[in-house]
Amino acid sequence: MTSVQAEPGEISVSLSINGRAVAVPTGTSIHKACESAGIDTPTLCWAENLTPVSVCRVCVVEVEGSRALVPSCARAAEDGMVVDTDSDRVRHSRKMVLEFLGSGVDLSQAPELQRWIEHYESEPERYDQYEMPAIRMGEEPKVQDNLYIRDYDKCVLCYKCVEACGDDAQHSYAIAVSGRGFGARISTEFDAALPDSACVYCGNCISVCPTGALMFTSEHEMRKAGEWDESKQTSTETVCPYCGVGCVLDLTVQDNKIVRVMSPVESSVTNGNLCIKGRFGYGFVAGAEQSEPTSEAESGAT
Ligand code: SF4
Ligand code: SF4
Ligand code: FES
Repeated sequence: MTSVQAEPGEISVSLSINGRAVAVPTGTSIHKACESAGIDTPTLCWAENLTPVSVCRVCVVEVEGSRALVPSCARAAEDGMVVDTDSDRVRHSRKMVLEFLGSGVDLSQAPELQRWIEHYESEPERYDQYEMPAIRMGEEPKVQDNLYIRDYDKCVLCYKCVEACGDDAQHSYAIAVSGRGFGARISTEFDAALPDSACVYCGNCISVCPTGALMFTSEHEMRKAGEWDESKQTSTETVCPYCGVGCVLDLTVQDNKIVRVMSPVESSVTNGNLCIKGRFGYGFVAGAEQSEPTSEAESGAT
């Protein structure tokens, strides 16, 4: 039996996944139970540091006795549950969902999604023949300051940025989904430019975006110039020098320059989140060669 280590006194539940007996602590999601059994399950709108909103449905599994397929990221494992993650129905559903999510958007910077598209032999391009009312391909990236860009050509509407900006981390509520159906878009209030919105430039939305729709300006410009080269990049973990909280920073460095700053989700201090200073205030390291926050951005710093 595969099991996740339960804390002393913790009650565990036993279930069957793909015919294997698995035991996990009470409250563990089916997705996490699959992970503990070494079963790879696709996710898109789920993240370790976000509350599941279950909008993408790529993680669905079949649960015996349940009429509809179940989102494994949000549904807790139960005692006696019989789960199938690889039935024809699951495979077909995931294939279709990936096709819908991938149609009409640019997934060139979404390697994980591409991996699953290949795995399920999805063909998002087969919808190219239809005239879609509000296809996103071809929209210019929104470059409204020198810190980060929003390229909604690449947006699959996973809601992660909205969650990171809202209840799950920043509580700024600067962005939300506007419109419905084909017209749905992630937008600031009244589509205001980012410096005029409630955005405080924490960049937590960038760190959760799975498709590169939200990106450091430094990365965006380097990619545009063909200079982004992961083989030349190193990653250095350090502590933010700005205040005494002790946020862990993960610096991506290329050609001796910091090109991106993230924070590990596993950090108990940050849970993957930063403020504007930790995220973008690294200019002092290399002086004038690095970007400084714009005055609009600085006004949002806390
Ligand atoms: S940078 Fe922070 S405040 Fe601004 S939209 Fe992203 S999550 Fe919200
Ligand atoms: S911008 Fe990124 S994080 Fe936000 S909804 Fe689109 S794909 Fe998801
Ligand atoms: S990852 Fe489960 S519904 Fe999106």
